[in-house]
Amino acid sequence: MKCDFTGKVCVVTGASRGIGSVMARDFAAEGGKVVGAGRNTGALKTLAAEIKAAGGIFIPVEADLSKMVQCKKLVDTALKEFGQIDVLVNNLGITGAHKPIRDLQPEEWQEALDTNLTSVYACIHYAVGSMMDRKTGAIVNVSSVGTKIPSPMRVPYVATKMGMHGITRVLAHELGPYNIRVNTVSPGFVDGERSDEVQERMAKNRGIPKDEMRHIMLQASPLRRSVPPGDISNMVRFLASDLGASLTGQDIDVAAGLAFN
Ligand SMILES: NC(=O)c1ccc[n+]([C@@H]2O[C@H](COP(=O)([O-])OP(=O)(O)OC[C@H]3O[C@@H](n4cnc5c(N)ncnc54)[C@H](OP(=O)(O)O)[C@@H]3O)[C@@H](O)[C@H]2O)c1
Repeated sequence: MKCDFTGKVCVVTGASRGIGSVMARDFAAEGGKVVGAGRNTGALKTLAAEIKAAGGIFIPVEADLSKMVQCKKLVDTALKEFGQIDVLVNNLGITGAHKPIRDLQPEEWQEALDTNLTSVYACIHYAVGSMMDRKTGAIVNVSSVGTKIPSPMRVPYVATKMGMHGITRVLAHELGPYNIRVNTVSPGFVDGERSDEVQERMAKNRGIPKDEMRHIMLQASPLRRSVPPGDISNMVRFLASDLGASLTGQDIDVAAGLAFN
């Protein structure tokens, strides 16, 4: 089995680092015309050069997608460059404030809402017309297994990620008649810069060293390990490709067994 995105236009949010950058490389290696967004222009340019050198196509779009107008800019760029959108991966995400609800400030709540959830609405809202008109498309929302395990002090993150599950379920039914599939992938503990930051904050909240926090997190998995970012990319691409043609409205954990769906 091999995913094939030849001729497909694949839009990936949060492509400048972590899971999104791995995904952008993989989509391009499988023939996709990739449009990737983030705020870090330098990182996007480096990725674009790397993908181009490997013979792939990647258009970087500098955008703060917590602003709906910038989501429109991303979609408009993809449509201007390639005339269509076949795949949309709502991958970007911030961990947000790790605080007890009593201390959580309105602006912290709002930042997570705008970044993690409103961007999902806006990117789909602007991109879906191209899919509906052509009666084809795949949308994958990247949530988190944090929605299924105890996650104290993470109300903004978990609430916004739960919102993505709602969007997936509603749109699977709404867009199914247009041959557009909508699914969610829920990663577990994926190694990278972000995991380092999350471990740091969780350790601080518990008053324990970061190494101990990491150990606790790894022990919670039946496989006693983290998930490589490429495994998230594999599942996202499976769902976005023809291999996943019979899947819609699903939420697949790629979490080394951290939670049961
Ligand atoms: N890593 C994990 O263990 C883990 C676990 C569960 C779920 N997830 C989910 O998987 C997804 C990817 O995670 P990751 O580990 O790759 O995270 P990451 O390394 O922190 O990367 C996040 C990406 O989102 C982009 N981003 C953040 N805010 C943005 C904004 N306002 N506008 C545009 N882009 C923005 C960042 O780009 P810029 O900084 O350039 O803007 C970056 O490319 C996230 O949705 C995350 O919640 C990750």
